[in-house]
Amino acid sequence: MNLESISIHEVAKSVSEAMDTRHSIREYETKPIPEDLLNRIFEKALRSPSWKNSQPWKVHIVSGEKRNSLASALTNAATGSQPTPETNWPESYPSDAKKRMFDLGMKIYGVAGIDRKDKEARDQFMLRNFSFFGAPTAVFITSKFDLNFFVGIDLGCFLQSVLLLAREEGLGTCPQAALGAFPEVVRNELGLPKEEKVIMGISIGYPKAQSELNRFHTPREEASDLIRFY
Ligand SMILES: Cc1cc2nc3c(=O)[nH]c(=O)nc-3n(C[C@H](O)[C@H](O)[C@H](O)COP(=O)(O)O)c2cc1C
Repeated sequence: MNLESISIHEVAKSVSEAMDTRHSIREYETKPIPEDLLNRIFEKALRSPSWKNSQPWKVHIVSGEKRNSLASALTNAATGSQPTPETNWPESYPSDAKKRMFDLGMKIYGVAGIDRKDKEARDQFMLRNFSFFGAPTAVFITSKFDLNFFVGIDLGCFLQSVLLLAREEGLGTCPQAALGAFPEVVRNELGLPKEEKVIMGISIGYPKAQSELNRFHTPREEASDLIRFY
């Protein structure tokens, strides 16, 4: 296929379905993902748009033994120390967003069978971020760019491409800011240079079949409240 002259009139057969049905997956089968399948998803995601085609992303796909040692190292770090992210984690939100975030937490704990007053259980659930919710593969998105607003948008475009392409292939994903909480640990384990900042990660794998948590489809605000035509 000549990608420089690709016709935009070709049918895009499954983006809508992927949009409608994707949600974050937080319980996985241990079954490994074939490497050619991972290759296909990430090579396609490289078609994502970016500011002046600057392509600020690098992707590190970690499976097998390395995945296991990274999960241990990150879980240790998260148990014993405070996060030191290289990105600006948000500190405040408008009140309506706070409500949505609170609702999300309550619903997820509810589906996961966690009593919201049980801090120990909540902390244990939070820690599962660092073993990739049991996914066989963890993906880290890094960048050497100065982390300005538009680099964030570029990386967000890339992220969404991966999530939808994975869904199209029958894989589940969970995008995780938590996986950027201990960048030094990731750099050490993967042998990355200091200038490669660890932005975030994605757990990816086959969704666990018998899982209430995986059935939870997050709500959205009404389109009429958010989209206005002129
Ligand atoms: C930038 C970003 C960071 C996120 N970080 C985390 C995370 O650290 N842990 C987690 O469990 N989910 C994380 N999520 C998933 C969101 O909670 C989830 O996308 C949101 O609640 C909407 O639900 P859905 O993905 O199921 O549609 C993140 C999502 C995004 C886009």
